[in-house]
Amino acid sequence: MGDPEVGSGVNRSKRSPVESLGLQKKPVFQAWFHFLIIICILVFVMCLAVSDGSLTWWERLALYKRFLNKTTKFQAPAYRIHPHHKFKLMETHTTTEPPTVQPGIRYHQAYPRNYQFVMDNRDVCKSRTPFLVLMVPVAPHNVAARDAIRQTWGKESVVQGEVVLTLFMLGLSNDADAEKIKQENEQHHDLIQSSFMDTYLNLTIKTMVIMDWLATRCPTAAYAMKVDSDMFLNIDNLVMMLQKPGIPKLNYLTGMLMWDRPVIRSKDSKWYVPEEMYPDPQYPTYTLGMGYVFSNDLPEKYVEISKVIKPFNIEDAYIGMCMKKLGLAPTSPPDPSQFKAYNSKYNRCEYSKIITYILGTSEELKNYWADYKKPGPHCEGST
Ligand SMILES: *[C@@H]1O[C@H](CO)[C@@H](O)[C@H](O)[C@H]1NC(C)=O
Ligand SMILES: *[C@@H]1O[C@H](CO)[C@@H](O)[C@H](O)[C@H]1NC(C)=O
Repeated sequence: MGDPEVGSGVNRSKRSPVESLGLQKKPVFQAWFHFLIIICILVFVMCLAVSDGSLTWWERLALYKRFLNKTTKFQAPAYRIHPHHKFKLMETHTTTEPPTVQPGIRYHQAYPRNYQFVMDNRDVCKSRTPFLVLMVPVAPHNVAARDAIRQTWGKESVVQGEVVLTLFMLGLSNDADAEKIKQENEQHHDLIQSSFMDTYLNLTIKTMVIMDWLATRCPTAAYAMKVDSDMFLNIDNLVMMLQKPGIPKLNYLTGMLMWDRPVIRSKDSKWYVPEEMYPDPQYPTYTLGMGYVFSNDLPEKYVEISKVIKPFNIEDAYIGMCMKKLGLAPTSPPDPSQFKAYNSKYNRCEYSKIITYILGTSEELKNYWADYKKPGPHCEGST
């Protein structure tokens, strides 16, 4: 954390005004004045440090150090205080240049531009502007899950009159045949693969790479959803929800909201997060990772803010953290009961009303979907 250059910068800026003014004053007054100036500087520094309550101390320190750099003669700052938002990071390089992996908080592991797209349907949003893009993180070998989605909720390219696009996000894996994946993409044109290792602990990277893809390849889409591959998604109900008047077009994130969730410190848990990675005992409000929907202005903002958010392996809570740092919060869906997690038994009427349910297998998805799509009323006694 220590930076000798920055330290000397503080001293320089403290000393010069005091000395020049002090020369013309009497000794007692000079001492007083000296004291006052120091107090002023201290208060200023403290105000700066605490002005953004959503930042952790080390981020404040880093930002403050950048601020000091601006005031010293060295170089242009990498950020500036933004009048409306908390702060804005400014990038001078383009997004397509090779990744630069640097130590430090700006280019940590979850920053998606550390990775490259090795398979990239980069023009899919150019021919038609989607209303909604469904981004499905899936393990490279899991062809069965992808095929089930292609036959069910990922099948329709127009839903309720809106263009919907379904894409799969893959990382690298040793147990998947690269040639087969290439062929699969040649057939369906719906795979995106990035250069990170596809593991459970790397799911935050996967989510951030999804955000990077949306921000750089599909910025014209109105909405996007990160939806897991083991989900039943009632795509009609989702599009209808987004068509409702009053649904925000910007800064909108919705799904199943999680409030005041404690961070799991038990090492045996799948969701274990060590204190070094995430010191607070609770997560900020977030949307459960099974499926969350967002206005498509957010991906670019997430990518930018992720430079200053220490990575941890809980991707949905990480997005919650990005929201918090952006000074935003997730919004409850118009009907919160539509976002459901685990269910016990398929029910045609029930499935016609919801938006999400977590399923067990791809077979379940295909069977339930086939039944749900059968003609006729969904609920007993309805017309
Ligand atoms: C401040 O500027 C120096 C010199 O250009 C640079 O090496 C250093 O990384 C900068 N520090 C921060 C915190 O940006
Ligand atoms: C995550 O991905 C990075 C980049 O490919 C890799 O170096 C690292 O080992 C992966 N981490 C885990 C826990 O798999």
